[in-house]
This record gives sequence, C-alpha cells and structure tokens, in this order.
Amino acid sequence: MAKLFLASILLFIFFLYLPSPSHGVCHPSDMKALLKIKAALNNPSQMASWNETFDCCAPFQQLISCDPATNRVNNIYIDSDPRIRGRSIPSAISELTYLTLIFISPTGLVGSIPPSFAKLKYLQELIIWTNHLSGPIPEFLSQMQSLTFLRLTGNQFSGTIPASLSGLSNLTELDLSNNNLTGTIPDSFGNFSSQLNFLELQGNRLSGEVPRSLGNVDFLSIHLSNNEFTGDASFLFGSNKKTTDIYLDNNAFEFNFSNVEISSNLWRLNISHNKIFGSIPHGLATIPSLLLLNVSNNNLCGEIPQGGKLQSFGSSAYLDNKCLCGKPLPAC
Ligand SMILES: *[C@@H]1O[C@H](CO)[C@@H](O)[C@H](O)[C@H]1NC(C)=O
Ligand SMILES: *[C@@H]1O[C@H](CO)[C@@H](O)[C@H](O)[C@H]1NC(C)=O
Ligand SMILES: *[C@@H]1O[C@H](CO)[C@@H](O)[C@H](O)[C@H]1NC(C)=O
Ligand SMILES: *[C@@H]1O[C@H](CO)[C@@H](O)[C@H](O)[C@H]1NC(C)=O
Ligand SMILES: *[C@@H]1O[C@H](CO)[C@@H](O)[C@H](O)[C@H]1NC(C)=O
Ligand SMILES: *[C@@H]1O[C@H](CO)[C@@H](O)[C@H](O)[C@H]1NC(C)=O
Ligand SMILES: *[C@@H]1O[C@H](CO)[C@@H](O)[C@H](O)[C@H]1NC(C)=O
Repeated sequence: MAKLFLASILLFIFFLYLPSPSHGVCHPSDMKALLKIKAALNNPSQMASWNETFDCCAPFQQLISCDPATNRVNNIYIDSDPRIRGRSIPSAISELTYLTLIFISPTGLVGSIPPSFAKLKYLQELIIWTNHLSGPIPEFLSQMQSLTFLRLTGNQFSGTIPASLSGLSNLTELDLSNNNLTGTIPDSFGNFSSQLNFLELQGNRLSGEVPRSLGNVDFLSIHLSNNEFTGDASFLFGSNKKTTDIYLDNNAFEFNFSNVEISSNLWRLNISHNKIFGSIPHGLATIPSLLLLNVSNNNLCGEIPQGGKLQSFGSSAYLDNKCLCGKPLPAC
C-alpha cells in the first residue's frame, strides 16, 4: 500500500515536470483547413469548438493532435455524427500537409477518396472503415509512398484491385476486405516485400487463380475467404514461413493437400468449403500451437492423422469430405 502511494507521488511529480505535449498556436494554414473540413461535414457537434480562436494544438483533444516539434496537425479522427451521414470526404483534409494518420470511423460517408489525398506525402495510416464509399479503389493511392497501413474494409468499392498498389514498398497491412471488388489478385502483388504482414481480401467477388508470385511473400496473415477463387493455393504454405493465419474458406480452390508443407508457426487454418483433395498432411499433427482448423466441405480422403491438436477440434471441422475417417470421425 505504501509502495503504491509512493509510486503515485512519483508519477505525479513526473507529470508535473513533463513538458506539456504541445501548446503552440494553431498554424494558420492548418486552422484554415480545419474550418473548411468542419463546414464540409455540415458542422458536426464533435467539431463545435473549432472556430477562429481555437488552438488546434492544445493537448488531449479528441479529434486531432499535433506534432509537438512542429506544431502542425499530424493526426485526424472523424467519428460518427448524424450530421455527417451522406456527406463525402472533405478534400480540404489534404490541406493538412503534415498528416501522418487519417482515421474515419463508421459515419455514413459516401463518394470516393478525394484525389487531392495523393499529395499527402507523410501519410502513413489511411483507415476508412465501414462507410459507404464506392467506385474503384483509386490508382493514386500508389503515390502515397509513406503508407504503412491502408485499411478500406467494409465499403462498397468495386472494380479491380490496382496493380500499382504493390509499389507501396512500406506497406505492412493492406485491408480491402468486405467490398465489392472483382477480377483477380494482380500478379504484381508477388513484388510486395515480406514486410506486408497482413493481406485481407475476404468478402469480395474476386475470382480466378491466385498468382503464384504470392508464394514469394512471407505474410503473417492472409485472408482470402468468401470470394470466387479457383485453382491452386498450395504455394501459400511453406515450412519456413512465419505465417500464422491462412483463411481460404468458401471459395472454389482445387489442389492436392497431401504434400502441403506446414510451418510450425501456424495458428489458424480454414480451408472449409472448397474442392481441395488428397489427404490431411501429417505435419498438421505436430503443431502444438494450432488454435483453429477447419477442412470441412472439401474432397479430402484418408485417415485423419492422430496427434497434436487434431482430435480437439470436433467432427464439424472435418465433415462433408469424400472419405475422411478416424478420430474425431468414425474409424476407417
Ligand atoms: C470559440 O470557441 C470558444 C470555446 O468553444 C469560445 O469561448 C469562443 O468565444 C469562440 N470564439 C469565437 C470567435 O467564436
Ligand atoms: C520506408 O520505411 C523506411 C524504414 O522505416 C524509412 O526509412 C523510409 O523513409 C520509408 N519510406 C517512405 C517513403 O516513407
Ligand atoms: C456489387 O456490384 C454489383 C454489380 O457489379 C451490384 O449489383 C451490387 O449492388 C453491388 N453490391 C453492393 C453491396 O454494393
Ligand atoms: C516486380 O518487380 C520487378 C523488379 O522491380 C519488375 O521487373 C517486375 O515487372 C515486377 N512485376 C510485376 C508483375 O509488376
Ligand atoms: C471457417 O470457414 C467456414 C466456411 O466459410 C465458416 O463457416 C466458419 O465460420 C469458418 N470458421 C472460422 C472460425 O473462421
Ligand atoms: C495427392 O498427392 C499425393 C502425394 O504426392 C499422391 O500420392 C496422391 O495420389 C495425390 N492425390 C490425388 C487425388 O491426386
Ligand atoms: C467448420 O466449417 C463449417 C462450415 O463449412 C461449419 O459448419 C463448422 O461449424 C465449422 N467447424 C469448426 C470447428 O470451425
């Protein structure tokens, strides 16, 4: 108790002497942009305090923060507000030249991403999730060379995936899931470095074969569920990969599973609801970390290897195959 008290005092003193995060005046051009953004979004209540005398770099604000070194706005968040619904993304956001993060929560925004965003050369994270954006995924995103996170999940983007996105060499996450995208995964995606940890394309209408070049990228997680992919995907596996999550379920993949190389880093594997044939590789029975397996609804055959976690998943993980047998299914 006394220790806790002492710790609190020390913490208090620490904060007392911490220089306040930023207390400069709002840069005039940032101020101008913020007022334009407020007007374009129909004066939402969350921006009520934004006026000509407002200090946009005051500490502990909800929607914006500044870089303390330069007093320029570097992060902007837009939250749900009934006044914003049906508006489009204000192009004036791109006048906040020093932005590193744009985070737009579900707010009912429509339209597309303003082309002026291409100028945001310091932008690292662009997150616009569960809005009603539509039209094609813009090509100009590939000009935003600082991007590390691009997350556009849950909109209504349609058309094909721009091949040029693979030119974003610092990307660690690309999430275009749950849109209305068609066509194939561009060949160029094999040119992503293994710095691209997360590839999330589930819940679109993507089709055709996954390019073989994708086998060159060592993803942490690849999510292709709920599309119309066909053909081989065995090259996404590999004993030396760091990949923990592979979701291929609910497509029309068709390949021999028998000799797929299973990495000991694997945590979650869902290949349910495809046309995958052959048998369950023995490697799967040697992974102590496996948390999820579902191979149901395929054309698999033969005995389920005994060992590891394979008997812990329950029969629903194995049902509706051609001739799988052995625990947890009936004996062969
Ligand atoms: C700006 O907003 C602050 C606080 O919300 C208020 O006190 C001030 O009067 C406003 N200034 C102008 C010029 O409207
Ligand atoms: C990419 O990341 C590296 C390492 O973090 C950094 O030095 C480089 O400036 C980044 N490139 C761009 C265009 O931001
Ligand atoms: C997806 O696109 C099709 C036409 O290509 C259209 O009929 C459908 O309404 C779209 N779905 C959504 C959710 O936007
Ligand atoms: C991948 O990158 C290499 C070298 O930069 C380039 O020659 C090749 O055309 C690229 N492949 C695709 C499909 O874009
Ligand atoms: C695995 O895939 C099937 C088929 O798409 C789906 O019903 C199931 O919810 C998935 N399981 C998990 C845990 O993702
Ligand atoms: C799958 O591959 C295994 C091992 O190479 C082979 O023995 C088997 O015949 C193949 N299965 C089918 C259905 O082609
Ligand atoms: C496996 O996927 C099927 C759908 O294909 C689903 O019904 C079942 O509950 C899933 N089982 C497990 C253990 O994930």
